[in-house]
Amino acid sequence: MSKIRIAKEEELSKILVFAKNYRPDIELSWLSKWVNKIVVVEKNGRLMGSALCSFEEETFIHFMNAEDWDTLVELAKYLLDNAFETGSTKVRTFIPANRIDLQMSLTKLGFEYEGRLRKSMLNVDGKLIDAISMCKWTPDIPKIPKHVFEPLGFHIRPYRSEDYGKILELSRDAFPGEDPFEDAELIEEISRDNPELNLIALDKNGRIVGGIFAWEWAPKNAWIYLLAVLHSAQGHHVGTLLLKKLEENARRKGILRLQVDTNVNNFPAILFYLKNGFEFEYREIAASKLKRKDTDDAVFSKSI
Ligand SMILES: CC(C)(COP(=O)(O)OP(=O)(O)OC[C@H]1O[C@@H](n2cnc3c(N)ncnc32)[C@H](O)[C@@H]1OP(=O)(O)O)[C@@H](O)C(=O)NCCC(=O)NCCS
Repeated sequence: MSKIRIAKEEELSKILVFAKNYRPDIELSWLSKWVNKIVVVEKNGRLMGSALCSFEEETFIHFMNAEDWDTLVELAKYLLDNAFETGSTKVRTFIPANRIDLQMSLTKLGFEYEGRLRKSMLNVDGKLIDAISMCKWTPDIPKIPKHVFEPLGFHIRPYRSEDYGKILELSRDAFPGEDPFEDAELIEEISRDNPELNLIALDKNGRIVGGIFAWEWAPKNAWIYLLAVLHSAQGHHVGTLLLKKLEENARRKGILRLQVDTNVNNFPAILFYLKNGFEFEYREIAASKLKRKDTDDAVFSKSI
């Protein structure tokens, strides 16, 4: 059984470990001033997580950390419910920009990237480092399809015109409800100039399992127009290996940067890009005629 309660003075040194792992600049002396605001999760007599928030119109999470994912979700749910019930309209937190693991955990909890704060947080060795701001406007935690890695046999080769039908199959499966011909037509066109940037993955029966399609839209910059893996093949690192091969080919062509956009609510894709070394660049606000659909995009980039 787990219990969420206010921290005790004698627990501060354990709490400091959770806190420092989230924000390296937190010190024991600072923490001790907030002891009656710090919450802890206790399971079978053990401290499993801890957090500190200032609940205001805009709640700020100083730190929120736990030993395992389920405890973190429990703690986050408690804080988010509290924040929105007590009148907050936004919850924000700052983390070191180089902590992709934290950024991914917050993304899974439904936080969005807000911006980068240059040289604004002290590292453990006293150096100023960049931080990023992540924020959230609702208490709900998204349901992200479970990702379980299993090996799958497949090979990768450049797209050819005779693969047109395969692209329709892939596009229908990965983007249900969208026009598959739009993708297929564009891929047919962009692959003519850059076959090595337009790759498909096939299983041993010649069935398409995934594809990645990019073009050099500006000198030395390639834009990934489409990355898709068949539903039944997701979680087998097809996406990762397609991206690796694209990076290898792009580098050989002298391309220095890859860019991609995806819907801000496409959490699996956002987690995929973060895991593969992409950084969030900006949020592309949808044109107002499209506003009824949740169509804002998040743009990511990676230097290769
Ligand atoms: C996004 C997509 C391309 C990922 O392809 P994939 O082959 O299933 O992904 P991989 O197996 O290579 O996963 C690599 C990493 O991405 C992250 N990831 C991928 N899918 C995830 C999911 N559903 N939940 C959480 N993390 C996920 C994980 O960190 C994973 O690393 P791990 O295996 O070490 O946990 C695939 O889900 C897809 O085609 N989705 C539908 C179409 C789409 O949204 N395309 C992108 C739009 S731009």
